[in-house]
Amino acid sequence: MAFPSHRPRRLRSTPALRRLVAQTSLEARHLVLPMFVADGISESRPISSMPGVVQHTRDSLRRAAADAVQAGVGGLMLFGVPRDEHKDPVGTVGTDPDGILNAALQDLAKDLGDETVLMADTCLDEFTDHGHCGVLDDRGRVDNDATNLRYVELAVMQAASGAHVVGPSGMMDGQVAAIRDGLDAAGHVDTAILAYAAKFASGFYGPFREAVSSRLDGDRRTYQQEPGNAREALHEIRLDIEEGADIVMVKPAMSYLDVVRSAADLAPVPVAAYQVSGEYSMISAAAANGWIDLRTVVLETLTGMRRSGADIVLTYWAADVARWLS
Ligand code: PBG
Repeated sequence: MAFPSHRPRRLRSTPALRRLVAQTSLEARHLVLPMFVADGISESRPISSMPGVVQHTRDSLRRAAADAVQAGVGGLMLFGVPRDEHKDPVGTVGTDPDGILNAALQDLAKDLGDETVLMADTCLDEFTDHGHCGVLDDRGRVDNDATNLRYVELAVMQAASGAHVVGPSGMMDGQVAAIRDGLDAAGHVDTAILAYAAKFASGFYGPFREAVSSRLDGDRRTYQQEPGNAREALHEIRLDIEEGADIVMVKPAMSYLDVVRSAADLAPVPVAAYQVSGEYSMISAAAANGWIDLRTVVLETLTGMRRSGADIVLTYWAADVARWLS
């Protein structure tokens, strides 16, 4: 019997060899921590479908944000949760300078300055009473161009409140161009746009509804993409780059790694992937049952996203991973 002449196992034989030849790195700086801040609560509130994730008060957010930055995460992505009675059809509270998201951005900008990258979700679903990502026309459909006008107002307010990066996540056509123009006109030429460029209509956003205390009648299929459409995703990504996106994101991550890879191959700008709420819940639940090892699996999923071409990964484990890696 011939012995194998090629022995790839040689380079796996010691931890030092494996470290030397590792092709993909995962560092804390690659990770962005999404955080929720709620109005009208006196202490942080657990999100039952996302064990370990909470809706913060403004104070607990400041402490948790400082801890995450101290641990080394690359940035923070903020979502605001207003009181129900402050929600209306156009999401007015999102553009109120004292609205919860803008107030929290001001807090963190004051605390952290340029020590981290402060990002904000630029969308209406957290702020509207109907739960859609846009404003509705008289037939109840999401009105693309009217929504973009609101996104511009949101983005300008978030930039003025201290966001380094705004993250339009509503999948309206032309949202990046509209926001870029609006930011520039308001003097925020250095505020970057992280475009949720290829965002799929996904069941994995389920726990996010609880996280932002929002409900939605119907679905988002007139603005988010069908899970099977890869070429359409590339079209969306190219359009966002043309419109001036500084970073393009694919979301969710795990079921769409082929799209992440294609995005990385075509995009001249950094690519991000979002490990969304349902991905967090799914792994947490299996780990809680003792079926998988949490740390091993989390590191494996994030490494897979990096291997697929993601420069940046948004994950609710960002601060934990930063601590594990240090
Ligand atoms: C829209 C937005 C959503 C998420 C991020 N931004 C919800 C949606 O599109 O339905 C989901 C994030 C997650 O599930 O972790 N504002």
